[in-house]
Parts: sequence; C-alpha cells; structure tokens
Amino acid sequence: MNLLEAEGLNTFYGDSHILFDVSMNIPEHEVVALLGRNGAGKSTLLKTLSGALKAQSGTIKFAGKQIERLPTHEIARLGLQLVPEERRVFGGITVHENLKLAAMTAEKPLDYSEIYRTFPRLDERRNNKGRALSGGEQQMVAIARAMIRDARLILLDEPFEGLAPLIVRDLMAVCQQLAEQGRTIVIVEQNVAAALSMASRCYLINTGHMVFEGTGQELQAKPELMSRYLGAAAA
Ligand SMILES: Nc1ncnc2c1ncn2[C@@H]1O[C@H](COP(=O)(O)OP(=O)(O)O)[C@@H](O)[C@H]1O
Ligand SMILES: [Mg+2]
Repeated sequence: MNLLEAEGLNTFYGDSHILFDVSMNIPEHEVVALLGRNGAGKSTLLKTLSGALKAQSGTIKFAGKQIERLPTHEIARLGLQLVPEERRVFGGITVHENLKLAAMTAEKPLDYSEIYRTFPRLDERRNNKGRALSGGEQQMVAIARAMIRDARLILLDEPFEGLAPLIVRDLMAVCQQLAEQGRTIVIVEQNVAAALSMASRCYLINTGHMVFEGTGQELQAKPELMSRYLGAAAA
C-alpha cells in the first residue's frame, strides 16, 4: 500500500519553475531514497510534500487524504513530518524541552522513554542546552522531534551532512529501526552508497524532472544513469 501518492507536481519559486510534473509513490513501512545532484530539486520536493511550499498544480494523497491544500501544521498532525536540512534545534532550551515543544502540538505523543531508548545519547544530554550539542546530537534531536510526534512518514533532508562516520552509522541504524517500527522514511542523501544501502526503493531527480524510479539494484545496474545524473563518483 502507498502511504503517499504525489502526482503531477509543479512547484515555483516566484517565476522560476522548479518541479516539472513530478510524481512519486511512497510505499508504507519502507525507506525510500531521493537522489540527485545539487540543485536538482530534492529539497523543493520534500518541502512541497510537507506543505511548506505549495505546488501550483498537482495532487498529494497521504494516508488516503488529499493534503495539497492543507496548511503545514495540519499535514504534520496527520503524521507527515519534514526534518529540514537546517536542523532548527532551539539553542536556548534543553534537549528535553526541545522534545517537549514538539510533543505539545502532537495528537498522541510518544513516551519520552521510547525516544531516550532509541537515542541513549540524548538521554545523557537531556538537560544540556541545544547550543551545547554536537552536529550529530542536533540531528538526533531533529529526528527525535518527528518521532515523538509519532510521525508515520518522516522526510529527512540530508541528515548526515557534515557528520562523523561513526555518528552516521548510528543514525543509519536508527532510520532502519524507525522503518522496522512501522514508520516510513524518505531520505535525501548525497552519499549514494549509504542511501542505497538503507533504501528499498529510490527516485532520481534531475533539474526538476523525475528521471528514474526503481530498486537500488535496478539503479546500480544502470551505470550510465548514475554517472549522468549523479556524477562519476557515484557510478
Ligand atoms: N528560495 C529559493 N528561491 C529561488 N530559487 C530557489 C530557492 N531555493 C532553491 N531554489 C532553486 O531551486 C532549484 C532546486 O533547489 P533545491 O530543491 O534546493 O535542490 P537540491 O535540494 O536538490 O539541492 C535550484 O535551482 C535552486 O537554485
Ligand atoms: Mg537540498
């Protein structure tokens, strides 16, 4: 079953046409990778799906409901949560208070204990201010906020950017765990190998056009696509 179905999305920034008739299906309980070069439109697509940007045309169905006209907070309440590239952890309040804020506006927030079990590191740091956290810890808070709101679909925009390999490994394990718990994840990631190792399906976007949809294996069997749209390093 598809948790999300987007069809024919056209998104603009002012007069600039960025997404061209983009369609995407996200099966429930899976990890889906969204790949593409810098400037291809990945962040724009995630923002459009989460309602942060409104498409000029096209439809988005989430959990059986049309959401393309709903305000972001209602889309979030239905269980679709964007974790944007800029992590937006509040620096002046503690880890626990950051989680509390996220839980406040949720319909049925999860128990803090569940979050701290997933992120033992955040448990240790719960009374530390956001600004005292490392980049990896901030990313944990950003993901934990989506989790405490019991999001069914979590859109992760380059969650591993600038993080040390060990932290990336931990976060990848967390993403896998979230999927096993029945959540669905879309991940935008520059490291194609890492993304494909987590994802069952992937989409490839280029200059605002979806150019490939399939399994990671199917993509890897097409080195010409990989080098054309992702650069030689990915092939
Ligand atoms: N706020 C904005 N205003 C105008 N153009 C933008 C804005 N944000 C992104 N763009 C343009 O939209 C295109 C897609 O950007 P983006 O979705 O951020 O790509 P990606 O996330 O794949 O790197 C790029 O050409 C970028 O320059
Ligand atoms: Mg981006």
